[in-house]
Formats: sequence, C-alpha cells, structure tokens
Amino acid sequence: MKKIGIIGTGAIAAIHVSAIQKLENAELVALCSSSRERSEAAERRFGVKAYSNVEEFLKHPGLEVVCICTASGQHLEPALLAAKAGKHLIIEKPIEVTLVRADELIALCAKQQVKLAVIFQNRFSADFEKLKAAVDSGVFGKILMGNAYVNWFRNEEYYSKSEWKGTIKVDGGGALINQGIHTIDLLLELMGGVESLFGKVQTAYHQIEGEDLGAALVTFKSGALGNVTSATAFYPGLPERIEIFGSKGSAILEAGKIIHWSVKGETSKLVAADSGSPSGASDPMAINTVLHERQWADFINGLENNRDYRVDGLKARRSLELIRGIYKSSKTNEIVHFPITE
Ligand SMILES: NC(=O)c1ccc[n+]([C@@H]2O[C@H](COP(=O)([O-])OP(=O)(O)OC[C@H]3O[C@@H](n4cnc5c(N)ncnc54)[C@H](O)[C@@H]3O)[C@@H](O)[C@H]2O)c1
Repeated sequence: MKKIGIIGTGAIAAIHVSAIQKLENAELVALCSSSRERSEAAERRFGVKAYSNVEEFLKHPGLEVVCICTASGQHLEPALLAAKAGKHLIIEKPIEVTLVRADELIALCAKQQVKLAVIFQNRFSADFEKLKAAVDSGVFGKILMGNAYVNWFRNEEYYSKSEWKGTIKVDGGGALINQGIHTIDLLLELMGGVESLFGKVQTAYHQIEGEDLGAALVTFKSGALGNVTSATAFYPGLPERIEIFGSKGSAILEAGKIIHWSVKGETSKLVAADSGSPSGASDPMAINTVLHERQWADFINGLENNRDYRVDGLKARRSLELIRGIYKSSKTNEIVHFPITE
C-alpha cells in the first residue's frame, strides 16, 4: 500500500484526491499548501492531515509518493525537496516552464534514484491508444501530415482571478504551454521527433503576458509535416482535435474520441473504444477523473512491480521542448532546428 501526499491544494488537486481514493494499492495520507489558511481549508475539505510547510509534510510517517499540484513554474522547488527526501514524484503538466528547470528535476530524480512521472492523462484515452496502435502498425500507410488544434476560449476572469495564469514566470506563457500542451503531447506520440519548426505567438485578445494565440508549421524527423494551433481567444472554443493523414488512410480524434476513420479498401467502421473525455474548450474544469485514475494506476502499479510506467520525465519533456521552440522561433522570426538549447 503506497502512501501518497499532495503539494498544492488548488483546482486540480481535487481531481487527484478522487483518483487516488479509487486506487486499491495506495492511500492519500497528507496534503501541503502554501499558507496555514489554505492548508486548514484543505484539511477540512478532504479530511486528510494538511501541512503548510513542505519540510514538515515530507516527514509525514511512511510517505513514499508525492504529487505536485502547484502552479506550473512552482513545480521545481517542492519537487527537488521531495526528491532529496527520497520520495517518488508524480507532477502535473507541464513538467516545468523552461527546459533548464525541467532538466534540473530530471537529473536530480535520476541521481536520487526516485521515479518521476508527469500527468498527461489524455494518453490514457482508449481511442487515443487505438489510434496510436494503428499509426504504429502502418494501418494508414506512410504518415504524411499530423495536425493538432486546440482552438479554445477562456473568459477574462480565468486570467484576472488567478495569480499566475498567463504570466511568463509562473505559467511559462499562455495558450500553448497551459492548454495546448496535452494535444501537442499526443501529436508527438503519434508523429515522433521534430526536425524543425517555424512558429508565431500573439497576445491578441486577453490582457496577459503570455500568448493567447500560437501557431506553428512543424517538420517531423520522418519528413511529415504538421500544423499546430493553440488559443484561448476563440469564442466559444471548439473541441481539441488531432488529424492524421497517411498514404492509405486518415483519422481524426476530437475530445479524446475518434470521429473519423478511413482506410483504403475497407468500409469505414467507426466504433469508438471510449466515450471520450469532456473537452475543456470553454471550461477549464470540464474534465472528469477517469483518465487521471488510469494514469495513477499505471504509475502505482509500475512502482509496486518495479516496471516501466507510461509518462516519465524525458517523455514529458518533449512537448515542452516543442513549445519552447515555437516561442524561440516567434522571437527570432527564424526556423528553429531541434534539439534546442536554452
Ligand atoms: N492535467 C490537467 O488537465 C490539468 C488541469 C488543470 C491544471 N493542471 C496543472 O496543475 C497545476 C496546478 O493548477 P491549478 O489549476 O490547480 O492551480 P491553482 O492556482 O488552482 O492551485 C495551485 C496551488 O498551489 C499552491 N502552491 C503554490 N506553491 C506552493 C508550494 N511551494 N507549496 C505548497 N503549495 C503551493 C497555491 O497556493 C495554490 O493553492 C498546474 O501546473 C496546471 O498546469 C493540469
């Protein structure tokens, strides 16, 4: 029975509490928030011992796994303390907001021999798994293009009520690094590594530092092309979408559900494996716990049986690298070649 604690008790922490409560081989034993007021509120809400000091939290008896649910650019510091204390880590996306900060964390976890997982719950949608298996086994022939579109909307309060969303320092940017990253992560799983890209970001609608609109033309190492767009400025917000085009077939995944599937010579039999996940197109909390539950089960079973789990630090770093590449390209007005350095 793995004993789990969560640092950061804001919006996403509630999803993790529910997901952990469904696990048979793990239990939630402690929480940690940044102030005494918030930790007391969390203790009342979730009925679990809560701390307001990370060092004290890390001494909680038997604590083995720490889940980091702090704001994106505040993952590193508590995660380093936890790794130094020998705790395994599962961190909300993005792994961090710069490659330098992500690499510091990946290196320390390797040195301390603690496991590091990063939440990308959409990889656990059954329809995504079906699409990936088909792409990998050549069902669609040679893949010529893969597109990821996250054409979403966030209202003004979404940014004005948050201390960190849309800020460069703590969010790392805006629509790409906060919202688009999930779908970019899936696109990279399907298409493989990036050779180069040309990108543009704009702050077109909201009063924020980061982008509320970003686009890139990507060339993958395979030679295939791809379009990436991500926005929080497009009213009312449409479901996120991945399009895969190959020499023998094409497919579209929308809000985690396959909505188009054609293969040369076959009658299209569109049977969705999953009911999909609600899209966060207009509402940031329109997510259910099912996919988080699946990722938690994958990680805890990996720890219990000493075997691999699906999303480790290096796998989570790829989407961050692509997004940092778009920011770099937009700033320099040049094509960026991968790998990138910061
Ligand atoms: N997987 C998903 O679909 C998904 C959805 C929403 C958010 N997220 C991610 O989850 C993270 C948190 O987002 P949120 O919406 O819950 O933010 P939030 O602002 O609601 O909550 C963040 C919390 O962390 C606390 N905090 C900050 N630094 C701390 C520290 N050092 N110690 C203890 N507590 C600290 C803050 O006080 C706040 O309560 C972000 O990285 C975000 O990208 C993921």
